[in-house]
Amino acid sequence: MQTAAELKLPEIRTELPGPKTRELLEKDRKYISPSYTRSYPLMVERGFGAMLEDVDGNVFLDFNAGVAVAALGHGHPEITEVIARQAERFIHISGTDYYYPHQSELAEKLNRITPGNFIKKVHYGNSGAEAMEGALKAAVYSTNRSKFIAFRGAFHGRTFGTLSLTASKAAQRRGFGAQALDVTHVPYANPVRFPLNLRTGESVGRRVARYIEETVFKTTVPPEDCAAIIVEPIQGEGGYVVPSPDFLPELRRISNKHGIVLIVDEVQTGMGRTGKMWAVEHYGVEPDIICMAKAIAGGLPLGVTLAREELMQWHAGAHASTFGGNPVAIAASLKTIEILENGVMANAAEAGNYMINRLREIKDKHDSIVDVRGLGLMIGVEFARDPDTLEPWPELRDEIVLECFRQGLIVQGAGQSAIRFSPPLIIDREQADFAIDTFEAAIIHATK
Ligand SMILES: Cc1ncc(COP(=O)(O)O)c(C=O)c1O
Repeated sequence: MQTAAELKLPEIRTELPGPKTRELLEKDRKYISPSYTRSYPLMVERGFGAMLEDVDGNVFLDFNAGVAVAALGHGHPEITEVIARQAERFIHISGTDYYYPHQSELAEKLNRITPGNFIKKVHYGNSGAEAMEGALKAAVYSTNRSKFIAFRGAFHGRTFGTLSLTASKAAQRRGFGAQALDVTHVPYANPVRFPLNLRTGESVGRRVARYIEETVFKTTVPPEDCAAIIVEPIQGEGGYVVPSPDFLPELRRISNKHGIVLIVDEVQTGMGRTGKMWAVEHYGVEPDIICMAKAIAGGLPLGVTLAREELMQWHAGAHASTFGGNPVAIAASLKTIEILENGVMANAAEAGNYMINRLREIKDKHDSIVDVRGLGLMIGVEFARDPDTLEPWPELRDEIVLECFRQGLIVQGAGQSAIRFSPPLIIDREQADFAIDTFEAAIIHATK
């Protein structure tokens, strides 16, 4: 029987879930927090490249990459080797109290590969939410202001601080009472679902900017009290929404005008996923702070807050984390960046264009699809009950996700009514074609 390492396409060999999976699910139900949001029972045994094998020997094609983390695929030999080598030397020493050479080596590299020809300081954490926490604290500390502007549909984490920014699903807020931070949410520049009236010829990006300047600044958030605007360059959990091209430049203009810190959350969009290292590069914007995590360390936990030097002039003890910037994760990150720059990012751009074109052909055949959007291998397909009213159709979306799983394709929903494709950036044409054919078959199955 071939394993995940020997196969390029899925093979489903048992009923799903298989017998071993069913047994293990019992233990999971007993001991694991029910707050986790599993869409289907995939119990993983091992992974290789874009393939995952479950405990029953079923092999799946992974078009979610552990939620946009495994950019180089699973079990990349150069990453596992670098991890093993660093683990043999030392696993932990706490970079907040001691030094190790590759801590500043990665910071220097991140300076080189991020927009802006100025020195940026790096603070290491362990996750996307921690990267965001660092950014929020740096913005408050450096501006001495405490109000924030974020966007409807945003996802920046679930800690108490970042939950104040997150606005993609009510389930994330329900039961948690008042929010910790003073955040005003405004509409995202979503070209498909947009709640504000537009003037003739006005873009949604420009309209959001006008809403901030003419309404928000004049009512609840005086600009001189606003510490930061926090934005995802493509909304991730909110539905893989690509904003109008002028949106980020407009936010940059407003931030510059009022001394507001522009924090760009590249946790999901970053590390080559969109075909460029950072999604902001598509828009020609230099953020003040960039937050990174997910794919940055080849699958190991690492969060980075990278800020203009002058925004991180805080005193010793102001912010730190015992595990943040763990030596093994940093070693893996240096290697990950090297491999991404060596052709993988280019593959994301090419494979992404191919997939988007094919998905647009499929859209023309199915009324339930109202939008196909994306950059590189960050692709969203939006469903609606009716193409005129755009009423969301989450039940259809969920059934398609489930049917893809039954056929061996791992995808996830995003937003109210979209499916996201976020495969490893190393996928080839055959795998892209398989994913799209399976996706279309699942739509036909779910709509008949
Ligand atoms: C854009 C964005 N920011 C922040 C986070 C939070 O990251 P983590 O789950 O590592 O805390 C996520 C997670 O999905 C994300 O997509």
